[in-house]
Amino acid sequence: MKFFIDTADLAEIRDLAATGLVDGVTTNPSLVAKTGRDFLEVVREICALVPGPVSAEVTATEHAMMLAEGRKLAKLARNVAIKVPLTPDGLKTCRALANEGTMVNVTLCFSAAQALLAAKAGASFVSPFVGRLDDVGTDGMSLIRDIVQIYRNYPGLKTEVLVASIRHPIHVVEAAKLGAHVGTLPPSVLRQMFQHPLTDKGLAAFLADWAKTGQSILGETKAAAE
Ligand code: G3P
Repeated sequence: MKFFIDTADLAEIRDLAATGLVDGVTTNPSLVAKTGRDFLEVVREICALVPGPVSAEVTATEHAMMLAEGRKLAKLARNVAIKVPLTPDGLKTCRALANEGTMVNVTLCFSAAQALLAAKAGASFVSPFVGRLDDVGTDGMSLIRDIVQIYRNYPGLKTEVLVASIRHPIHVVEAAKLGAHVGTLPPSVLRQMFQHPLTDKGLAAFLADWAKTGQSILGETKAAAE
């Protein structure tokens, strides 16, 4: 499963990219607005930091302008993926950009029917929003189950399921169990995934016992030095 980071915050991306666990980045207009910075500059800097796909979303809503925006964003770096909303104009733009060899991430997907359309439009990624479905009392993970099942029926399909709107590590685990290709994780969720109290407790016990040996892997054993 590929891990993308769902943020436009350069410091967060830089910190987590250093773990070697980050395969890409997704942004959206709200995440970019939170940075208070110039959108195009932020995209350029993220693309230089992370070699994998970096999603940058168009903000126009009708095809001609979406296509113009998408083409401009695609020129920022080779690893830019253009994000378009799952609307008729968005999928028209998806098809046009895909035909030009540009990666497209179709976002704001909330049904299997929509995901079918995104695949037919040549999307590189479809982003079903599990957290927002959970927020309104719908089981977001059942949507992932449906989409993965449908896509598996068509081995020639190139569209990857990019699970978005992730709220906690269980969303990541459940999506992985279903075989989703990608999860885009808020930085906090990736950090939560490392945490387990038994790991902390076990490490403390190992180190306490090791300290009693008086040894040092890099230095001489203290006993030998005496
Ligand atoms: O960036 C796309 C998606 O992950 C955002 O979802 O619900 O966290 O705003 P949300």
